[in-house]
Amino acid sequence: MQRKRVIGNWKMNGSRGLIADVIDRVCADSYAAEVSVCVPFPYLADVRNQLARHELKVGAQSVSEYDDGAYTGEVSARMLKDIGCELVIVGHSERRRYFGESDVAVANKLARLLEVGLFGVVCVGETLAERDAGKAEARIEAQLAPLHGLMAKGCDASKFCVAYEPVWAIGTGRAASVEQVAAMHGLIKRSLGSAFDVLYGGSVKAGNAAELMAIPGVDGVLVGGASLDSKEFSGICRAAG
Ligand code: 13P
Repeated sequence: MQRKRVIGNWKMNGSRGLIADVIDRVCADSYAAEVSVCVPFPYLADVRNQLARHELKVGAQSVSEYDDGAYTGEVSARMLKDIGCELVIVGHSERRRYFGESDVAVANKLARLLEVGLFGVVCVGETLAERDAGKAEARIEAQLAPLHGLMAKGCDASKFCVAYEPVWAIGTGRAASVEQVAAMHGLIKRSLGSAFDVLYGGSVKAGNAAELMAIPGVDGVLVGGASLDSKEFSGICRAAG
Protein backbone atom coordinates (compact mmCIF):
# COMPACT_ATOMS: atom_id res chain seq x y z
CA MET A 1 0.00 0.00 0.00
CA GLN A 2 1.21 3.48 -0.86
CA ARG A 3 2.09 5.81 2.03
CA LYS A 4 -0.56 8.37 2.85
CA ARG A 5 0.45 12.03 3.00
CA VAL A 6 -0.42 14.16 6.04
CA ILE A 7 0.31 17.85 5.50
CA GLY A 8 -0.22 20.51 8.16
CA ASN A 9 -1.00 24.04 6.95
CA TRP A 10 -0.36 26.49 9.75
CA LYS A 11 -1.73 29.41 7.67
CA MET A 12 -0.76 32.79 9.25
CA ASN A 13 -0.37 31.27 12.70
CA GLY A 14 2.58 30.24 14.79
CA SER A 15 5.49 31.40 16.90
CA ARG A 16 8.81 29.98 17.98
CA GLY A 17 6.99 28.60 21.03
CA LEU A 18 4.47 26.76 18.87
CA ILE A 19 7.24 25.33 16.72
CA ALA A 20 8.91 23.91 19.81
CA ASP A 21 5.61 22.46 21.07
CA VAL A 22 4.10 20.99 17.89
CA ILE A 23 7.25 19.89 16.10
CA ASP A 24 8.74 18.28 19.23
CA ARG A 25 5.58 16.34 19.91
CA VAL A 26 5.04 15.22 16.33
CA CYS A 27 8.69 14.19 16.02
CA ALA A 28 8.46 12.08 19.18
CA ASP A 29 6.68 9.33 17.20
CA SER A 30 7.34 7.73 13.86
CA TYR A 31 4.54 7.26 11.37
CA ALA A 32 3.64 5.09 8.44
CA ALA A 33 2.46 8.27 6.67
CA GLU A 34 4.68 10.90 5.06
CA VAL A 35 4.22 13.91 7.35
CA SER A 36 4.92 17.53 6.36
CA VAL A 37 4.31 20.91 7.94
CA CYS A 38 3.80 24.08 5.91
CA VAL A 39 4.67 27.09 8.07
CA PRO A 40 4.83 30.87 7.50
CA PHE A 41 7.96 32.07 5.62
CA PRO A 42 9.78 33.53 8.69
CA TYR A 43 9.73 30.15 10.44
CA LEU A 44 10.81 27.93 7.55
CA ALA A 45 14.48 27.91 8.46
CA ASP A 46 13.81 27.30 12.17
CA VAL A 47 11.55 24.36 11.40
CA ARG A 48 13.98 23.04 8.80
CA ASN A 49 16.74 23.05 11.44
CA GLN A 50 14.55 21.43 14.04
CA LEU A 51 13.54 18.69 11.61
CA ALA A 52 17.09 18.02 10.46
CA ARG A 53 17.24 14.71 12.29
CA HIS A 54 13.70 13.61 11.43
CA GLU A 55 12.05 12.50 8.27
CA LEU A 56 9.28 15.08 8.50
CA LYS A 57 9.27 17.51 5.61
CA VAL A 58 8.96 21.29 5.76
CA GLY A 59 6.94 23.30 3.30
CA ALA A 60 5.77 26.82 2.45
CA GLN A 61 2.22 28.04 1.86
CA SER A 62 2.74 30.07 -1.31
CA VAL A 63 5.41 31.22 -3.76
CA SER A 64 5.86 33.99 -6.30
CA GLU A 65 4.79 33.26 -9.84
CA TYR A 66 7.90 35.19 -10.99
CA ASP A 67 11.60 34.38 -11.07
CA ASP A 68 13.97 36.41 -8.84
CA GLY A 69 13.96 40.12 -9.58
CA ALA A 70 12.25 43.43 -8.82
CA TYR A 71 9.10 42.09 -7.14
CA THR A 72 9.07 43.71 -3.70
CA GLY A 73 7.65 41.50 -0.97
CA GLU A 74 7.66 38.31 -3.02
CA VAL A 75 9.45 35.03 -2.23
CA SER A 76 10.79 32.97 -5.13
CA ALA A 77 10.83 29.22 -5.64
CA ARG A 78 14.61 29.36 -5.89
CA MET A 79 14.86 30.96 -2.42
CA LEU A 80 12.59 28.31 -0.92
CA LYS A 81 14.70 25.57 -2.47
CA ASP A 82 17.86 27.31 -1.25
CA ILE A 83 16.81 27.22 2.42
CA GLY A 84 15.83 23.54 2.33
CA CYS A 85 12.08 23.80 1.83
CA GLU A 86 10.71 20.63 0.19
CA LEU A 87 7.10 21.30 -0.78
CA VAL A 88 4.85 24.31 -1.38
CA ILE A 89 1.06 24.75 -1.25
CA VAL A 90 -0.29 26.74 -4.20
CA GLY A 91 -3.80 27.95 -4.96
CA HIS A 92 -5.21 27.66 -1.47
CA SER A 93 -8.78 29.04 -1.46
CA GLU A 94 -7.71 31.77 0.97
CA ARG A 95 -5.09 32.93 -1.56
CA ARG A 96 -7.66 32.81 -4.36
CA ARG A 97 -10.27 34.65 -2.28
CA TYR A 98 -8.27 37.31 -0.43
CA PHE A 99 -5.39 37.84 -2.84
CA GLY A 100 -7.13 37.34 -6.16
CA GLU A 101 -5.05 34.39 -7.36
CA SER A 102 -6.42 33.12 -10.67
CA ASP A 103 -6.28 29.57 -11.98
CA VAL A 104 -3.59 30.70 -14.43
CA ALA A 105 -1.51 32.36 -11.67
CA VAL A 106 -1.70 29.10 -9.71
CA ALA A 107 -0.40 27.15 -12.71
CA ASN A 108 2.43 29.71 -13.13
CA LYS A 109 3.39 29.22 -9.49
CA LEU A 110 3.43 25.48 -9.95
CA ALA A 111 5.64 25.90 -13.02
CA ARG A 112 8.16 27.91 -10.94
CA LEU A 113 8.23 25.13 -8.33
CA LEU A 114 8.81 22.45 -10.93
CA GLU A 115 11.70 24.41 -12.45
CA VAL A 116 13.64 24.23 -9.18
CA GLY A 117 12.51 20.74 -8.13
CA LEU A 118 10.04 21.61 -5.36
CA PHE A 119 6.95 19.43 -4.86
CA GLY A 120 3.64 21.26 -5.35
CA VAL A 121 0.37 20.80 -3.45
CA VAL A 122 -2.28 22.36 -5.67
CA CYS A 123 -5.52 23.22 -3.86
CA VAL A 124 -8.88 23.15 -5.58
CA GLY A 125 -12.37 23.48 -4.13
CA GLU A 126 -15.82 24.90 -4.71
CA THR A 127 -17.79 27.39 -2.62
CA LEU A 128 -21.10 26.49 -1.03
CA ALA A 129 -22.92 28.70 -3.56
CA GLU A 130 -21.26 26.79 -6.42
CA ARG A 131 -22.19 23.44 -4.87
CA ASP A 132 -25.78 24.53 -4.21
CA ALA A 133 -26.04 25.70 -7.82
CA GLY A 134 -24.88 22.29 -9.08
CA LYS A 135 -21.64 23.82 -10.35
CA ALA A 136 -19.12 22.11 -8.04
CA GLU A 137 -17.77 19.72 -10.68
CA ALA A 138 -17.46 22.45 -13.31
CA ARG A 139 -15.55 24.65 -10.85
CA ILE A 140 -13.08 21.89 -10.03
CA GLU A 141 -12.58 21.08 -13.72
CA ALA A 142 -11.87 24.76 -14.42
CA GLN A 143 -9.28 24.81 -11.64
CA LEU A 144 -7.63 21.65 -13.00
CA ALA A 145 -7.60 22.80 -16.64
CA PRO A 146 -4.35 24.86 -16.50
CA LEU A 147 -2.54 21.89 -14.95
CA HIS A 148 -3.08 19.90 -18.14
CA GLY A 149 -0.77 22.33 -19.96
CA LEU A 150 2.04 21.51 -17.51
CA MET A 151 1.38 17.79 -17.83
CA ALA A 152 1.62 18.09 -21.61
CA LYS A 153 5.18 19.36 -21.01
CA GLY A 154 6.10 16.21 -19.10
CA CYS A 155 5.11 17.15 -15.56
CA ASP A 156 4.02 13.92 -13.88
CA ALA A 157 2.62 12.65 -10.57
CA SER A 158 6.04 12.75 -8.89
CA LYS A 159 6.04 16.56 -9.20
CA PHE A 160 2.74 17.59 -7.61
CA CYS A 161 -0.42 16.39 -5.90
CA VAL A 162 -3.86 17.94 -5.62
CA ALA A 163 -5.72 18.81 -2.42
CA TYR A 164 -9.51 18.88 -2.69
CA GLU A 165 -10.66 21.44 -0.12
CA PRO A 166 -14.31 22.42 -0.39
CA VAL A 167 -14.36 26.05 0.75
CA TRP A 168 -17.45 25.46 2.90
CA ALA A 169 -15.63 22.73 4.86
CA ILE A 170 -12.58 24.84 5.75
CA GLY A 171 -12.54 25.92 9.38
CA THR A 172 -16.25 25.22 9.81
CA GLY A 173 -16.10 21.92 11.71
CA ARG A 174 -18.23 20.45 8.90
CA ALA A 175 -16.14 18.04 6.81
CA ALA A 176 -17.48 16.86 3.45
CA SER A 177 -19.37 13.56 3.51
CA VAL A 178 -17.86 10.25 2.43
CA GLU A 179 -19.98 10.35 -0.76
CA GLN A 180 -18.99 13.92 -1.61
CA VAL A 181 -15.29 13.20 -1.09
CA ALA A 182 -15.36 9.93 -3.05
CA ALA A 183 -17.15 11.59 -5.98
CA MET A 184 -14.81 14.57 -6.22
CA HIS A 185 -11.62 12.57 -5.77
CA GLY A 186 -12.85 10.24 -8.52
CA LEU A 187 -13.41 13.22 -10.82
CA ILE A 188 -9.93 14.65 -10.11
CA LYS A 189 -8.21 11.30 -10.71
CA ARG A 190 -10.13 10.79 -13.96
CA SER A 191 -9.06 14.25 -15.09
CA LEU A 192 -5.34 14.06 -14.18
CA GLY A 193 -4.74 10.32 -14.09
CA SER A 194 -4.93 7.85 -11.22
CA ALA A 195 -1.20 8.15 -10.49
CA PHE A 196 -1.73 11.63 -9.01
CA ASP A 197 -2.24 11.74 -5.25
CA VAL A 198 -5.39 13.57 -4.19
CA LEU A 199 -5.60 14.78 -0.59
CA TYR A 200 -8.72 15.89 1.25
CA GLY A 201 -8.80 19.09 3.34
CA GLY A 202 -11.53 20.76 5.37
CA SER A 203 -12.22 20.24 9.10
CA VAL A 204 -9.96 17.19 9.39
CA LYS A 205 -9.48 16.20 13.04
CA ALA A 206 -7.97 13.25 14.90
CA GLY A 207 -11.53 11.94 15.30
CA ASN A 208 -12.46 11.82 11.59
CA ALA A 209 -9.05 11.37 9.91
CA ALA A 210 -9.13 7.56 9.75
CA GLU A 211 -12.60 7.52 8.18
CA LEU A 212 -11.66 10.18 5.62
CA MET A 213 -8.42 8.44 4.67
CA ALA A 214 -10.22 5.11 4.21
CA ILE A 215 -12.33 6.57 1.37
CA PRO A 216 -11.22 5.19 -2.02
CA GLY A 217 -9.22 7.83 -3.88
CA VAL A 218 -8.10 9.68 -0.72
CA ASP A 219 -4.29 9.60 -0.57
CA GLY A 220 -3.94 11.76 2.51
CA VAL A 221 -5.12 14.95 4.21
CA LEU A 222 -4.31 18.65 4.31
CA VAL A 223 -4.93 19.90 7.83
CA GLY A 224 -5.49 23.50 8.94
CA GLY A 225 -6.59 24.29 12.50
CA ALA A 226 -5.85 20.84 13.93
CA SER A 227 -2.21 21.07 12.77
CA LEU A 228 -1.67 23.82 15.39
CA ASP A 229 -2.57 21.43 18.20
CA SER A 230 0.21 18.95 18.87
CA LYS A 231 -2.09 16.25 20.27
CA GLU A 232 -4.64 16.54 17.43
CA PHE A 233 -1.99 16.62 14.73
CA SER A 234 -0.06 13.64 16.02
CA GLY A 235 -3.41 11.80 16.32
CA ILE A 236 -4.10 12.53 12.64
CA CYS A 237 -0.60 11.33 11.68
CA ARG A 238 -1.19 8.06 13.55
CA ALA A 239 -4.65 7.65 11.93
CA ALA A 240 -2.96 7.63 8.53
CA GLY A 241 -1.87 4.04 9.12
P1 13P B 1 -9.20 23.37 8.53
O1 13P B 1 -8.54 22.03 8.74
O2 13P B 1 -8.94 24.34 9.65
O3 13P B 1 -10.63 23.23 8.17
O4 13P B 1 -8.47 24.05 7.26
C1 13P B 1 -8.30 23.30 6.12
C2 13P B 1 -7.33 24.00 5.24
O5 13P B 1 -7.61 25.07 4.73
C3 13P B 1 -6.00 23.38 5.04
O6 13P B 1 -5.31 23.97 3.99
